[in-house]
Amino acid sequence: MTRPLDKSHPLPIYYQLKELLREKIVAGEWQPGEMIPSERELSERYGISRMTARQALKELTTEGLLYREQGRGTFVAEPKIEQRLAKLTSFSEDMLSRGFQPGGRVLRQEMVSPSTLACRALGITPEQPVVLLERLRLAEGEPIALETSHLYFEGVEGLLDEDFENSSLYNILREKYGVIPTRAEQQVGADLCSHREQELFGIPEGSPVLRNKRIAFDQHDRPFEYTESAYRADRYVFQIELGTL
Ligand code: GLP
Repeated sequence: MTRPLDKSHPLPIYYQLKELLREKIVAGEWQPGEMIPSERELSERYGISRMTARQALKELTTEGLLYREQGRGTFVAEPKIEQRLAKLTSFSEDMLSRGFQPGGRVLRQEMVSPSTLACRALGITPEQPVVLLERLRLAEGEPIALETSHLYFEGVEGLLDEDFENSSLYNILREKYGVIPTRAEQQVGADLCSHREQELFGIPEGSPVLRNKRIAFDQHDRPFEYTESAYRADRYVFQIELGTL
């Protein structure tokens, strides 16, 4: 059944169509990856001009709900994964809250002398070695982020023997090391993916990524982690809570 658009309503027709299509996406009537009706089909189905249908599709594409493939059609995009910036969460928690199975591929797990940035973030000197953990983070097996963590605390070398392919760093820290992630300072910025990220993520060259720097502190307010991450901008969104002062 197609709900008719109300031409006598003060809201423009393209807007009404846009909201109607949005409902279908949000309600799951149209699933991610599914091709939706073309401009021509929509204009016939709703008795509107192709220009009006085009405008609705264009806006939903800009909002990230739809994507176009040259010569093929318009498709429903995967919903973005939210990370709420008011609450300290781990990658695994972000994924599980969206019903995705988190995973990881460990690219580096070794003891290194910390970089100047890591020293500054962790309040240590280059003579104090840190565990460097580089992971490709997955959701349902799909690469979502690349995270490079520098970890420093009493007994940190134990992390060299942990299995990070299938477990959460924060869970291991809490459960086995008594390090409780309590608060973090985080910066988020926009950038284009590097060649390496493009290959690891399997995304087109020059795709946007969100670059994230986090210094996390334990229950004694000691910095234990400095992490630089790149998140795929097509799959991730940062959600910020604002209150009045
Ligand atoms: C986030 C943060 C990282 C943190 C990671 C822990 O993605 N950006 O700084 O290290 O979560 O995630 P997990 O506990 O799933 O390994």
